Amino acid sequence: MRANQLMLHTGVVTVRIGFIGCGLIGRSHATKLQEPVGEGLAKIVSAFDPDVDRAQAFGEQFAATRADSAERVIDESDAVYVATWTAAHPELVEMVAAAGKPVFCEKPLGVDLATSQKMVDTVEAAGVINQVGLVLRNSPSFRWLYHQVRSGEHGAPMSMVFRDDQYIPTQGAYGSTWRGDVGKAGAGTLLEHSIHDLDLIEWILGPIERVTCLTANSHGIEGIEDQATVTLQAASGAICTLSSTWHDVMTRPSQRLVEVLCRDGYLALDGDWHGPLRRDVNDGQSTIEAGESTIGVAAELDGLGTNPDAAFVNAVLEGRPAYPDFRIALRAHELCDAAYRSADRNGEPVDV
Ligand SMILES: NC(=O)c1ccc[n+]([C@@H]2O[C@H](COP(=O)([O-])OP(=O)(O)OC[C@H]3O[C@@H](n4cnc5c(N)ncnc54)[C@H](O)[C@@H]3O)[C@@H](O)[C@H]2O)c1
Repeated sequence: MRANQLMLHTGVVTVRIGFIGCGLIGRSHATKLQEPVGEGLAKIVSAFDPDVDRAQAFGEQFAATRADSAERVIDESDAVYVATWTAAHPELVEMVAAAGKPVFCEKPLGVDLATSQKMVDTVEAAGVINQVGLVLRNSPSFRWLYHQVRSGEHGAPMSMVFRDDQYIPTQGAYGSTWRGDVGKAGAGTLLEHSIHDLDLIEWILGPIERVTCLTANSHGIEGIEDQATVTLQAASGAICTLSSTWHDVMTRPSQRLVEVLCRDGYLALDGDWHGPLRRDVNDGQSTIEAGESTIGVAAELDGLGTNPDAAFVNAVLEGRPAYPDFRIALRAHELCDAAYRSADRNGEPVDV
């Protein structure tokens, strides 16, 4: 049953949501869903994870029934979250799409470009509402940067320096080790973590035409690079350097520092969500925004909310496309694949 049929044919106005995968990100989405749950728009009804303790704890925390299979979750829900480790996404997305139900899948879609392309084909052929966990598209910091650059008021962007680092997520708050298993994660820091960054870079700078990349693996985990340095050339002439690092500094869980130099302005953000944000412009004015005020700054720029899960529920209720969708994620996979091909050839440029 399609989402728009829910309201038209059954009068259902509360989306019954199921979770496949009850780990770190599953709990994070379920927590953000408490906003539409509180408004009576959604209810988390069913959850499955082969790790029974996790599923049990999730069920108790979010008042959901623990299901004994993914099929059961899909049967019992109007819309489904796929929040397992990456290698398990494609089969589960296919099951949800075959049932004709809206699906929210975590990033990366799949462990490689071909698999991700197939997932996009699957949801589009089934005609189901689909959203991907590229949640930094909802970040006030990044939306501020996007609007500052795209407004053109600072002149053409010339360079972007994008540093993204975190302690290697096979330890600490992650509470899991699958990111050290290439069969489950597909690759290391660029695919698993900085797929967000590749998406944001093209979103902010416009079409990317050429990519070069070098990778390193100082932890020595097979197939899991812990350093990637990528240059991305935009059609506009702007050039970005992305440095993505997994280290062992346990006081640094996930940190992004981004600087954009335009012809007539310097824009910077330090922090994934709430800044601080800095703008130095040609008339000698410098402004800094930080914390909750950042949300106000972003809210004035566009009407989009900062809660991706509330947005998904609304899309389902209204029977319209969700944002960002699988096709948006596919482009980030194309950039990522080009970067890995470049790294395989010792940094040779790859056109995208
Ligand atoms: N959007 C983001 O910012 C963000 C942040 C963290 C993780 N993620 C992504 O979310 C996904 C999960 O990451 P995580 O940190 O929550 O991992 P996690 O290890 O905390 O949780 C994954 C859970 O999936 C379960 N699982 C595995 N196969 C399953 C299956 N077939 N059916 C049901 N459950 C299954 C595991 O038992 C585990 O409990 C990954 O793809 C990751 O890249 C995205």
